[in-house]
Amino acid sequence: MFETRGASRNPWKRPVVWIALIALLALACGSGDAPPPGDGDAAEVPKAAPAPPGPEPTSPEPVAQARTPDAVKGDAIYQTYCASCHGARGAGDGPVGKTLDPKPVKHDDGVYMNALTNDYLFQVIEEGGAAVGKSPLMAPWGGSLSEEQIWDVIAFVRSLATPPFDGSVP
Ligand code: HEC
Repeated sequence: MFETRGASRNPWKRPVVWIALIALLALACGSGDAPPPGDGDAAEVPKAAPAPPGPEPTSPEPVAQARTPDAVKGDAIYQTYCASCHGARGAGDGPVGKTLDPKPVKHDDGVYMNALTNDYLFQVIEEGGAAVGKSPLMAPWGGSLSEEQIWDVIAFVRSLATPPFDGSVP
């Protein structure tokens, strides 16, 4: 069957074949059992330490946040990428911003900012001012920031508004 000439002339070949098969099976079973538990745990733990609740996790709207946006992380990102123009607290008074025309939008101006939707803010930040008919001096940040980071920045920008952003604009 495997080597018909050899098998018929050398009877000891059969046990060798069986031993080889058994060894292969043993290897297959052994390697199948060992790794999964470790891999699975390592992947799960950092994401969601508490046990997930009953309902299946579903991903909502297409552009929705993967996790709750973190305004503290957003603050750090804002200081790095946005404050030079928009000012550390969104007053539009960053050193670079003062020289620009038009001036960077004042993110602490709640009357103006609170009317803008999250999706609109996401688009301006990701694609830049030109993508929404605003000045190209407001650069696109999608190449530097992940979607998660953009949502973090939006959470921080929302926290700057006076009067405060009450979350009523989706
Ligand atoms: C080089 C300067 C500069 C930097 C850096 C900058 N912006 Fe801007 N941004 C502007 C200017 C100028 C405008 C106003 C555009 C206009 O009015 O046409 C603006 C406008 C905006 C607006 C309002 C858009 C609107 O419709 O009114 C948002 C929101 C915004 N920027 C967010 C950010 C965020 C978040 C960052 C950091 C990731 C950032 N910007 C970095 C210059 C900048």
